[in-house]
Amino acid sequence: MEMRLDGKRAVVTGGAQGIGAAIARRLAAEGATVAILDLAGDKAEAVLGAPHIGVACDVSCSESVDAAFAEVARRLGGVDVLVNNAGIGSAPDDGMSEYYAGQAAQAAGDKSAHADQTIHCTDQGWSRVLAVTLDGTFRCSRAAVRIMAAQGGGGSIVNIGSTAALAGNGPVPYVTAKAAVLGLTRAMARELAPRGIRVNAVNPGATETPIYAPLPQEVKDAVAADSLLKRLASPDEVAGAVAFLAGTDASFATGSTVNVNGGAWFS
Ligand SMILES: NC(=O)c1ccc[n+]([C@@H]2O[C@H](COP(=O)([O-])OP(=O)(O)OC[C@H]3O[C@@H](n4cnc5c(N)ncnc54)[C@H](O)[C@@H]3O)[C@@H](O)[C@H]2O)c1
Repeated sequence: MEMRLDGKRAVVTGGAQGIGAAIARRLAAEGATVAILDLAGDKAEAVLGAPHIGVACDVSCSESVDAAFAEVARRLGGVDVLVNNAGIGSAPDDGMSEYYAGQAAQAAGDKSAHADQTIHCTDQGWSRVLAVTLDGTFRCSRAAVRIMAAQGGGGSIVNIGSTAALAGNGPVPYVTAKAAVLGLTRAMARELAPRGIRVNAVNPGATETPIYAPLPQEVKDAVAADSLLKRLASPDEVAGAVAFLAGTDASFATGSTVNVNGGAWFS
């Protein structure tokens, strides 16, 4: 394993499980000291042992984010890399139960089924997804950039987008939030280049994590069939792209997006 992150202090949000945990392990394997921020602080702590740390944090809440970054700066001595991975999809009680039922019916071959979202999605369901997936990405970036700017040595931010942001398939609040994350990536890349802070994004395609667990098997099969490679990604395949963008091999990459989607979408 190359040590592209030797001596770097990296924060990974939503790293207690799934893609975030794979990213945290990969950054640690490449030499970084990693702080995992997650709602589940104990679970985050357990992903990696010392000298890595887990910190309880709700990325949708500024006070929680600022307190977590202050703790990371105190315990690790600073922040060089941020991976904004925490993100959530819509739940049935967001007013999306008709959507999931319609999607399953379509996947089962019912051509007359509607996967209605806009008719039913509640205000709370809309805001809940954006608060974590979009606002959380901004709030953590702001906290990290304050620390990186004060350090004066540059930095690297990698935002986790989604193929859904490009293809438009998925819950409407989620697609919207992820598309906005790509805009945020580009705007922050322009703003922060003079400070030596690079900002890039990785768009995973369907990836085998707990996010897929509640979906009916026929939906999962249909999703796998959409990719040219006819399967879901493993979290480690996404983590490899994140480590590339975070580290020195990507020293001339900023504002860019790497798609890791098995060819499900090209742009
Ligand atoms: N799994 C996929 O197919 C897929 C595809 C494209 C993009 N993504 C994106 O990749 C990222 C990780 O996805 P995953 O499948 O590993 O998700 P996951 O649900 O398995 O894990 C998400 C983690 O984020 C944490 N989290 C949730 N809300 C949080 C909050 N408010 N503050 C802090 N932590 C919070 C959870 O506790 C959990 O540990 C997400 O941004 C997701 O949208 C996933």
